[in-house]
Amino acid sequence: MNASDDGSDFELSRRRLLAAAGLGAGLGAVVAGTPVAAAEAPGAPTDPAIPPVAGLHLQFGADAAAQMTVSWHSLQPVRRPRVLLGRMDGRLEQTVEAQTVSYVDGKSGQTVHAHHARLSGLRPDTAYLYGALHEGAVPQFATFRTAPRGRAAFTFTSFGDQGTPSLGKAYVPPEGVKLPDTLWVNDNLGSPSAADTTAGVERVQPLFHLFNGDLCYANLAHDRVRAWWDFWANNSRSASRRPWMPSPGNHENELGNGPIGYQAYQTYFAVPEAAGQTELTRGLWYAFTVGSVRVLSIANDDVCYQDGGDSYVRGYSAGAQKAWLEKELSAARASRDIDWIVVCMHQVAISTADKFNGADLGVRQEWTPLFDRYGVDLVVCGHEHHYERSHPLRGHEANATLTPLAAATATDAIDTRQGTVHMVIGGGGTSRPSNALFFDPPQCRVITAVGPPDPKTGRRPPIYVTERAPWSAVRNAAHAYGFAAFAVDPGRPGGLTTIKVTYYDVAGPDGRLAPFETFTLRRPRRG
Ligand SMILES: [Fe+2]
Ligand SMILES: [Fe+2]
Repeated sequence: MNASDDGSDFELSRRRLLAAAGLGAGLGAVVAGTPVAAAEAPGAPTDPAIPPVAGLHLQFGADAAAQMTVSWHSLQPVRRPRVLLGRMDGRLEQTVEAQTVSYVDGKSGQTVHAHHARLSGLRPDTAYLYGALHEGAVPQFATFRTAPRGRAAFTFTSFGDQGTPSLGKAYVPPEGVKLPDTLWVNDNLGSPSAADTTAGVERVQPLFHLFNGDLCYANLAHDRVRAWWDFWANNSRSASRRPWMPSPGNHENELGNGPIGYQAYQTYFAVPEAAGQTELTRGLWYAFTVGSVRVLSIANDDVCYQDGGDSYVRGYSAGAQKAWLEKELSAARASRDIDWIVVCMHQVAISTADKFNGADLGVRQEWTPLFDRYGVDLVVCGHEHHYERSHPLRGHEANATLTPLAAATATDAIDTRQGTVHMVIGGGGTSRPSNALFFDPPQCRVITAVGPPDPKTGRRPPIYVTERAPWSAVRNAAHAYGFAAFAVDPGRPGGLTTIKVTYYDVAGPDGRLAPFETFTLRRPRRG
């Protein structure tokens, strides 16, 4: 961090940035410019009819050292959404117009407008100050840091299955019960812990955060647009400062929001483009590189048997995602610039929870053979609402569930050339944790098929086969909520590179952290 990166006078810097863009007051001088410009200056009178800049958040572009996308949203149309990009001292570098995309929520008929400004040509490992605004709105300011280029040390974090800590529905008491006041409940599987985990991530201040699906469970909510609004209100305090890079979960499948239900998710996020995607599948899987880590985010509803969303969409990409994934994995493993391959996804290949979702044979049939072939180091996933991890896995038994084989059993230091470590990190904050449901000794319920749709619910019941789980390494039965932090050490040429993994339990509104365990992944450097 150099002198201009310390953000020691944030207020001065943002005033400089505004002044350089011809907006508002510069360095304490009088407010300059047109009435529109005046309204855009902090502290100036604003038109209350103009919606605020809400839900500010970031995503890396495909080249995380040079590209960042700044996003926010509104429930009314806005004019000239744009981002002022500057150095930390307020020097303006560029003004980037945002592109607006919209969706109409199929349940409420409400239109949501998301504004995405794609910044490029950035310097690696550099802190920037930015302001997001649209005409007449008070600019929202935050800072971010681009990824380093080449081999460098950095930390990222991951969790899934969060929900929101807020209330969205009036409680309807049983017949004959009269309450003195209206009680409000959370109807999208949230809990107060959904706020704590975000505070916990901010204590670690990672370069970026991987969100392993089931973001806010809007598909369960009485008011789906409010669930998303609350999700961003809760997470913008982190996601406006560091990219939150998602994978879609089954609860992002919302009936009536696009042909396969992901249109809300696809509107709020502007992730890197992936070759071969269509309008239907845009943004559902993607890849980016940070240092010598290649991250692949994939969409598991495409391969899972479980009927877990608002509609049954298995096979929606008709093989396109798998073809893309194989090509990406092959290229990543062949590259001398890439040491680590990390996959972020939602549904799991492994779980030792009873009476919860379980593992899905579809993941084992479609993905894990590719993870084996190309030597994926680490899989982070969610769907199961607890923390556990596997030994390094390579190959499988010739049985009905394709039980994964553990290549080694040490739990403190793992050579990922031997196999892929799967981490289930689904304790992001839901009201329905699964940490108290572990089989003892470890077993796994695998969904191997689904039955015909139940005429009452329309849902396909899962067909389970239970297996032994010799691949199970570590489980966190005592605590429900937390996340994992990954400290990448590039090592030296000719030596090892390592990732020190810490799983933190999180408790309390200040995101207080208690390390549950640490372990190390290692492999030789490729270059
Ligand atoms: Fe979930
Ligand atoms: Fe899920």
